[in-house]
Amino acid sequence: MPSLLLVAGTFTRTVEWKGATMAEKVTFSVIKADVGGFVGHSGMHPALIEEAQERLETAKRDGTLIDFRVSRVGDDLELIMTHREGVDNTHIHQLAWNTLEAATNVAKGLKLYGAGQDLLSDAFSGNVKGMGPGVAEMEFEERESEPILVFMADKTSAGAWNMPLVKMFADPFTTIGLVISPLMHDGYRFEVHDVMESKRIYFDSPDELYDMLVFVGAPARYMIKGVYHRGTGDVGAVSSTQRLSLMAGRYVGKDDPVLVVRSQGAFPAIGEILEPFAFPHLVEGWMRGSHHGPLMPVPEPQSNPSRFDGPPRVVCLGFQLCNGSLVGPRDMFDDPSFDEARRQANVAGEYLRRHGPFEPHRLPLDEMEYTTMPQVVKKLEGRFEDLPE
Ligand code: F6R
Ligand code: MG
Ligand code: MG
Repeated sequence: MPSLLLVAGTFTRTVEWKGATMAEKVTFSVIKADVGGFVGHSGMHPALIEEAQERLETAKRDGTLIDFRVSRVGDDLELIMTHREGVDNTHIHQLAWNTLEAATNVAKGLKLYGAGQDLLSDAFSGNVKGMGPGVAEMEFEERESEPILVFMADKTSAGAWNMPLVKMFADPFTTIGLVISPLMHDGYRFEVHDVMESKRIYFDSPDELYDMLVFVGAPARYMIKGVYHRGTGDVGAVSSTQRLSLMAGRYVGKDDPVLVVRSQGAFPAIGEILEPFAFPHLVEGWMRGSHHGPLMPVPEPQSNPSRFDGPPRVVCLGFQLCNGSLVGPRDMFDDPSFDEARRQANVAGEYLRRHGPFEPHRLPLDEMEYTTMPQVVKKLEGRFEDLPE
């Protein structure tokens, strides 16, 4: 890990453009996929991490990447990369795709579970979006000091970030900076996607907070994609929210999501960003993607969802950027102050489990990932009679 001296030496890199000196922007990309679980869907085999590390190391040596880290939450492999190519860049997406394919081959060699399950296509076509992997990317001018957090979750979907993002950037009971910091007092702009209709809308908070909550309180359909500072327009957060495709009468593409959040100064403090996770709110995605469960904040080594394939987990890695290099990570939930959230998650999980196959533990019929409904309806054809008048 780079020394503290390197952090102290932070300076803004510049480029010459049309005779002017401009700050060079850095792109922070997280691209992730489940390319094979160990054991079952409960965790990650170290060989996959090693393979991805080797691939990205080569890309760093040839100058494609400034820096990278490979991590995981549960059975999801997470590629955290910095570069100067901008978001949605074909070379970076190709690199991520090739890396995930290489890890898939390792998973196949070990007959790991569901090898390559998130790589939905055989051929890369310019961008990994819509091809299975989750993507969260942002481009910005690195500040004098740039603390940044990467949240990675397993056994849930991107709507899981709605409540924490609202609390971080719009709730004064979570983020006192909204009340007492002059840099934050004007609030933030939220980009909200309707993932079923593939539409987006922007809401300014606090003015339009109540309007926004009508939508984002329904996180299976309306998801917060990004948050921006209202004064400067600077990006504060991006999630891996993606449009869902309607296939065979069902929406597919819900995925274990990631979220990147910039911190301090004009953005919430580290402790304000982590605070929402002290409450293990209920999310979709436990067992067979068909149950609600509490989102338990854990350090990375504890992200092995095993009880009833859960409960859902969130891991947070913290970095300081240093001219695009990643100083870190610190494992942010490796802190006894989150013990109570973990305990509450176990209590809430136990309470929900006692509902067995009943809602609201089980998801509503149209949101379950697994269903036997069509075949059961077919088997019972003609057995449903009209009720007597
Ligand atoms: C939930 C999850 C697991 C699997 C379950 C069945 O998101 O990944 O709960 O859905 O273990 O997996 P398959 O159908 O692969 O046997
Ligand atoms: Mg899996
Ligand atoms: Mg997963």
